[in-house]
Amino acid sequence: MYGTTERRRKISAPDLRDRKGGERIAMVTAYDYTMARLAEAGGIDAVLVGDSLGMVFQGRETTLPVTLEDICYHGRAVAAGLDATHLIGDLPFMTYQVSSAQALESAGRLMKEGCFESVKLEGGLEFADHVYRIVKAGIPVLGHVGLLPQSVHAMGGFKVQGRTADAADKILADARALEQAGVYAIVIEAVPPDVAARITREVSVPTIGIGAGVGCDGQILVSTDLLGMGLGKSPKFAKRFAELGQAAVDAFATYVSEVRDGSFPGAEQSYKPNASQSDVTTTAFDAPLALDHWH
Ligand code: KIV
Repeated sequence: MYGTTERRRKISAPDLRDRKGGERIAMVTAYDYTMARLAEAGGIDAVLVGDSLGMVFQGRETTLPVTLEDICYHGRAVAAGLDATHLIGDLPFMTYQVSSAQALESAGRLMKEGCFESVKLEGGLEFADHVYRIVKAGIPVLGHVGLLPQSVHAMGGFKVQGRTADAADKILADARALEQAGVYAIVIEAVPPDVAARITREVSVPTIGIGAGVGCDGQILVSTDLLGMGLGKSPKFAKRFAELGQAAVDAFATYVSEVRDGSFPGAEQSYKPNASQSDVTTTAFDAPLALDHWH
């Protein structure tokens, strides 16, 4: 598929944990089958169905409205496009904060109904006991510290965290609490690079940075940011590795003009006419119909 013929071995949560200090881990978010197939073909290690889908896919202002059902629905679609790539599901706002029993039940639903292989949740010390309970039930957990988008209102916006010594110490304490609770890796979002590098040195599990500099054990980006699909300004940390947004706008505009001037569809995109009903003769009509390209 998409140029890869080699089948990769399934990447598990313990495989990712064992990459601490070794080969850097490359993760992205994805919300659908097509993007999942492309990420897999590109050799991505793990895909997160993040609650960022509320903003990226549903066009909401924050991630808060996203439901467990939303994550499960997108998880099934993404799972269908993955082979070796590890699949992580995000626990949405208020599906784990209430109690460790609620957290375990929600994590279990992600695994059963969303086809996930591990789950992620935001927060440190406050939720370490919830993480412990989930891990003890046999569900691998990815932690998340620094900027916590589900706490956007408490944090006063999507702002860089850990700017003061106390704030940086608190993020380190959060990471340590998650490590103790048994996470296999920790996402560090929007913190100064020196703070992320210190956390990376001080915890025994891999750190996955997003806006946290190069000193982490891996990186994660939102796939639409990475592909340059947004038409507005990208966040500072989101390098655009392609400009697919502009390419899509150009393609739509060309389509519009070809529909209007009648140059699309041409002979190449048309079936062979019935001989009695047409005087058109062209070999282009005789191209075999590839059924897998019929959709
Ligand atoms: O929801 C999400 O996509 C995330 C990543 C950006 C880490 O939490």
